Amino acid sequence: MLNDKDRIFTNIHGFQPWNVDAAVKRGDWDNTRALMARGQDAIIEEIKASGLRGRGGAGFPTGMKWSFMPKEPKPDRPNFLVINADESEPGSCKDREIIRHDPHKLIEGALIAGYAMRARAAYIYIRGEFIREAETLFAAVAEAYAKGYIGKNACKSGYDFDVFVHRGAGAYICGEETAMLESLEGKKGQPRLKPPFPAGAGLYGCPTTVNNVESIAVTPTILRRGAPWFKSFGREGNAGTKLFQISGHVNTPCVVEEEMSIPFRELIEKHGGGIRGGWDNLLAVIPGGSSVPLVPAAEIMDAPMDFDGLKALGSGLGTAAVIVMDKSTDIVRAISRLSYFYKHESCGQCTPCREGTGWMWRVMERLRKGEADVSEIDMLYDVTKQVEGHTICALGDAAAWPIQGLIKHFRPEIERRINETNGNAAMMEAAE
Ligand code: NAI
Ligand code: SF4
Repeated sequence: MLNDKDRIFTNIHGFQPWNVDAAVKRGDWDNTRALMARGQDAIIEEIKASGLRGRGGAGFPTGMKWSFMPKEPKPDRPNFLVINADESEPGSCKDREIIRHDPHKLIEGALIAGYAMRARAAYIYIRGEFIREAETLFAAVAEAYAKGYIGKNACKSGYDFDVFVHRGAGAYICGEETAMLESLEGKKGQPRLKPPFPAGAGLYGCPTTVNNVESIAVTPTILRRGAPWFKSFGREGNAGTKLFQISGHVNTPCVVEEEMSIPFRELIEKHGGGIRGGWDNLLAVIPGGSSVPLVPAAEIMDAPMDFDGLKALGSGLGTAAVIVMDKSTDIVRAISRLSYFYKHESCGQCTPCREGTGWMWRVMERLRKGEADVSEIDMLYDVTKQVEGHTICALGDAAAWPIQGLIKHFRPEIERRINETNGNAAMMEAAE
């Protein structure tokens, strides 16, 4: 288990104030100028060496992403950093806690990351529903300007760097990085085709890196304590500490920073207070937010909670939003509810997603009610395969995967409902 001294987010539960004076006492903004003086390429190399992988869900190596940015930006084509604070994944609630209680880690990280990538400014795109969090963030940014930490000659480094906060309007799809760029430009938030990736053509067509809040907020500490320190947690390819968000049928739901690769059972025992009703009552877990397939109880017990460990189970770490479901869960209904979410949030731009998400949800509802024919299970699975990988952005995959996981692991339960409904109908007919 991670010791308190190795936790990056020392105020994640908000026991102390978030403001700049309290943040400075906790070690933020401590000689940031000296960190910057190490040089832009040295910072990128240190982040590469730390093994940090993107904390927004996809796990792309952060240092490598930074290295894609042009080293000599043109005056009419500046580099930009965009920070994704549109946290909308069902189950995910970590970026919200960082912004509520530790916003200066994010702002200091924005300066350092922006400087390393030669960015002119950072735009923090915050989810529209995060009203109080946005208030905190606006106030924290104003504090950082007032102290001279950002703006002209940021931290007396000689580097000018602005931070802008932009509020979203409540669309899940604006968390997709290119939809976010469209939205920032004042257009309808619809994903762009990739490539080109944002580093080639991003905000206003300029080189841009989009990073998640947690990825940016951990960078000052990594630089202060060193890449080997960060890499000493977790295992090869899955380094560092991570904010896990434990929700659902545990005794003490929480957001907690833990060592990457901690086994599932240990994570839940130590921080979730165990499963409601005991371990025998565990049915299944969605380990990384709603976009990743569920894993049945028996398979996840000893699994390392990291990118590779969960991939090996046919699922993923995603945002490390661990949704625990006990045996009281109507698992078909739970997945059908997620199908509705994706249908509702589809931007409608590409046909497999626009039509497929609605179609999948309607069949899921028939399965939930036991009204479908058994043959429709395979038909639904086929449709998920036709949606997966055939859409502009990952929302299509995210809609398909939970259903695939359900069919793979809980087919007998789906069939049981259908047979039960058919049996009841036959009994009614015979009685008449
Ligand atoms: P992705 O794998 O397409 O890209 C990840 C990042 O790496 C992007 O910034 C992309 O630009 C960059 N990248 C990938 N290949 C590249 C290349 N060849 N060259 C340059 N850059 C490259 O994944 P995506 O669509 O950005 O994210 C999907 C994930 O987001 C899902 O796995 C899900 O877990 C997560 N998610 C998180 C949400 C949240 O609320 N935090 C909401 C919804 C999804
Ligand atoms: Fe829009 Fe869905 Fe296509 Fe993504 S996959 S671009 S959300 S229609």
